[in-house]
Amino acid sequence: MAEQGFTPPTSEWYHPAPELVANANVPNYEEVCAQARQDPQAFWAERAETLSWYKKWDTVLDDSNAPFYKWFVGGKTNMVLNALDRHVSGEKRNKLAFIWEGEDGAEVTLSYWRLWQEVNKFANVLRGLGVQKGDRVTIYMGRVPEIVIAMLACAKVGAPHSVVYGGFSEQALASRIEDAQSKVLLTCDGAWLRGKIVPLKDTVDEACSRSDIVKDVIVVKRTGQAINMQAGRDHWYHELMALPHAKPEAETEIMDAEDPLFILYTSGTTGKPKGVLHTHGGYQVYTSTTLSWAFDIKEEDRWWCAADPGWITGHSYIVYAPLILGATSILYEGAPTFPEPDRWWQLVAKYGISILYTAPTAIRGLMRFGEDYPDRHDLSSLRLLGSVGEPINPEAWRWYHRVIGKERCPIIDTWWQTETGGFMITPLPSVALKPGSATRPFPGIEVDIVDEDGNPVGVNEDGDLVIKTPWPSMIRTVYGDDERFISQYWQKYAAQGWYLAGDTARRDEDGYLWVIGRNDDVLKVSGYRLGTAEVESGLVSHSAVAESAVIGIPDELRGNVIYAYCILVAGAEGSDELEAELKAHVRHEVGPIAVPKQIEFVESLPKTRSGKIMRRVLKAQALGQPLGDLSTLED
Ligand code: PRX
Repeated sequence: MAEQGFTPPTSEWYHPAPELVANANVPNYEEVCAQARQDPQAFWAERAETLSWYKKWDTVLDDSNAPFYKWFVGGKTNMVLNALDRHVSGEKRNKLAFIWEGEDGAEVTLSYWRLWQEVNKFANVLRGLGVQKGDRVTIYMGRVPEIVIAMLACAKVGAPHSVVYGGFSEQALASRIEDAQSKVLLTCDGAWLRGKIVPLKDTVDEACSRSDIVKDVIVVKRTGQAINMQAGRDHWYHELMALPHAKPEAETEIMDAEDPLFILYTSGTTGKPKGVLHTHGGYQVYTSTTLSWAFDIKEEDRWWCAADPGWITGHSYIVYAPLILGATSILYEGAPTFPEPDRWWQLVAKYGISILYTAPTAIRGLMRFGEDYPDRHDLSSLRLLGSVGEPINPEAWRWYHRVIGKERCPIIDTWWQTETGGFMITPLPSVALKPGSATRPFPGIEVDIVDEDGNPVGVNEDGDLVIKTPWPSMIRTVYGDDERFISQYWQKYAAQGWYLAGDTARRDEDGYLWVIGRNDDVLKVSGYRLGTAEVESGLVSHSAVAESAVIGIPDELRGNVIYAYCILVAGAEGSDELEAELKAHVRHEVGPIAVPKQIEFVESLPKTRSGKIMRRVLKAQALGQPLGDLSTLED
């Protein structure tokens, strides 16, 4: 059942300022769409021409084994060739790539030259530990400059990275290490969050004790608290970087366009996390094009994607695309409202940030503190704003537009997924906006909204959001599980060959798209993606719980919050104490984002005759809505 947090105000228009359109990287959206539609392969080839290649491709798109599409086949490249190597011999050499600010106010700046050197040094460190092309490296860190260095160094040596968000707990980390079979892991002693230390290294120790897969752990010193360093396995980053072989030059591995760049685990409909696989070639072409066109990146911009590098948003739009474009990015370690609710606005003013890209949940969180906090700071450097992660409710959109953007900055609401690699539905600066709509597909992207039989639904009717043609940064497979790749994304509309996004959407009378929410067992809590099964398996791993079901309930601040239903084992009794204990258990097993807001102890759960839990029934009941069709209900 899809969420519907709001009624789309489909007739409220915001038109872009003429000078913004005239100076935009793409001044005419329709024209570019027409070009792309006329000859998609020529269109993407032209985009690929803007990048450097060791060897050009022979074939733009190989669709002979669909849905295992291949892009720029025969091309030789490396993400780092475009993100760094080509810049250091040119005019970007001394430009700032990153301005980092710690939660404690510490500052680090990295020019392209300096970043290139650090990446080279760390590439040599990785090679010194025996890491070779194809080996997987797990990264579990806070938001420090070294996470970017580590990701790029992995790309440089051709070792796919698997970044696990630092908010995940030991169990989630362990299962990702196991799935990727990574022998090398990078972490920090701890991470700063709201003035407190998140003990990352302790979590790593616990996760590593579950198997003997990890042979080397590299630890960045950030917080300086005492941690356990296991002799032979654990190494300090700064010590490795001081070794004689950690020289500031390193060969960049020559990769096939289709060689893996990274695996990023995301939630699906079963408990086992899915390793979404992206590659060096198509991903560079698509992420750099989308960032340049949707956010209109210019030489003098200061770009701030306020996501975590551990999510796809961070991979594509903190690390890779901005570097390919030679942009200057801000990376901020802490929370938006710490120590005061104006921390973000302080940063905007201090660094002259011109483009801010964040999530609706953050906007709503900041909105709660009122207009005084942003009004204390000079936000005049801002020229574009962005949103991602969940539908933005019109109220938050208008606040963002008026209070932060001073009615001058368009809001680029980007719909996309871990699987898509880059923006799929988004306005360009030349497109008129409606609050809450991601507007229209990116040039070259063909989407539709269809019913169960694949027929397009009518105006303002709900249906499945599908993507009808391949695009360069599309997921290549689920790591190690081709079958799951097919069943998850391609089976439902196999006859038509369409990609199933898993979202419900509608199209209004002007052809604008409105993404309503997930229609599978995936939850969006504060923009984070979680599988119901992940939270449920966290609950049943407690000895008192026999069975559980969780659902997402709409929440003003967080988009959704989790409600859990638990059947207890014989002899166990539901109580406030047990509820608190179970919440703590989920926090430990899965992570803080998975903690249910409320846990209800029940005697039974509504199930189909085949034993599947009917979460929509639980949800309708929780929301006091009609229960709908109960013909498949067992009891
Ligand atoms: O439900 C959609 C929602 O986030 C899902 C993808 O989550 P994830 O893979 O974690 O990637 C998030 C960042 C790209 C989608 O299936 N979603 C993402 N952006 C939007 C959105 N829903 C509505 N509007 C958006 N702009």
